[in-house]
Amino acid sequence: MHVFIVGVTGAVGSLLAHELVARGDTVSGLVRHPAQRDELVTSGVTAGVGDLTLLSPGDLAPMIAYADAIVFTAGAGGGGTQATTAIDRDGVVKLIDAAHLTSVPPRFVLVSVFPEAWRERNLGPGFDHYIRVKKEADVALTKSKLSWVILRPSALQDDPGRGTVALGPAEIHDEITRADVAATLAAIVHEPRISQKILEVTAGTTPIDRAVASAI
Ligand SMILES: NC(=O)c1ccc[n+]([C@@H]2O[C@H](COP(=O)([O-])OP(=O)(O)OC[C@H]3O[C@@H](n4cnc5c(N)ncnc54)[C@H](OP(=O)(O)O)[C@@H]3O)[C@@H](O)[C@H]2O)c1
Repeated sequence: MHVFIVGVTGAVGSLLAHELVARGDTVSGLVRHPAQRDELVTSGVTAGVGDLTLLSPGDLAPMIAYADAIVFTAGAGGGGTQATTAIDRDGVVKLIDAAHLTSVPPRFVLVSVFPEAWRERNLGPGFDHYIRVKKEADVALTKSKLSWVILRPSALQDDPGRGTVALGPAEIHDEITRADVAATLAAIVHEPRISQKILEVTAGTTPIDRAVASAI
C-alpha cells in the first residue's frame, strides 16, 4: 500500500511513517525543506518539497497521484490564527481538491480534534479559533466525494505507547500518547472497510487492532 502523509516530519506523522514502513508500505509525504527530504530518505520515506500554504491543489495532485491513502496530520501548532486557518483548514481543503483531481482518488484519513477539547481551560481566542477551523476542515471532508475517516485524538502525550486505546464515535476527552495515535492511524489505513466515519480516540484498554476492527 502507498500512503502519503501531510505532516510526515511532525511528531505523529514521523511515528506513523515509521510504523507503515515497518509494515512494508510505500510511504511518501510533503516536507517544507530539502534537508527534511534528504533525512527522510534514510528511513525509507520519499517526499515532495513545498509549503502547504503556498501550494495549489494542482501542485499537490501529482504528489498524491499514486497514493492509496492520504493521512493529514499537519498543523500550525500554535503558529497564530492566520497560520492555523491556512494549514489546519485550508490545507485540508486543498488536499481534498487535489484528491478529486486524481484519476483514482485516494482514501483520506484526517487527524482532527475533540470539539470539546480543553474548553474548561478558557485558553483564549487563539485556541477557540483552532477548534473552529478543525471542525470546518471536518465539515469539508464529510461533504467531499472521497472515501474518508476523521480521527479525533484527545490531548497528545509523548510517553511510550501502550498498544491499547478507547476508540469509537464518541469518547470522553482525556489524554493519549502520540505513539498510540500513530498505531491507530496505521491500523485504520489498513482497514478500508472503515469509511465515512468520525472516530474519537483516547487512552483505553482495548488492543488497537481489536478497537479498529470493532469500528468497521
Ligand atoms: N497537541 C494536541 O494535544 C492535539 C490534540 C488533538 C489533535 N491534534 C492534532 O494532531 C495533529 C498532529 O499533531 P503533532 O503533535 O504531530 O504536530 P506537529 O509535531 O506540530 O507536526 C506538525 C506537522 O505539520 C507540518 N507543517 C506545518 N506547517 C506546514 C506547512 N506550511 N506546510 C507543510 N507542512 C507543514 C510540520 O512540518 P515541519 O516539520 O516543517 O514543521 C509537521 O510535519 C495536528 O493536526 C494537531 O492539530 C493535536
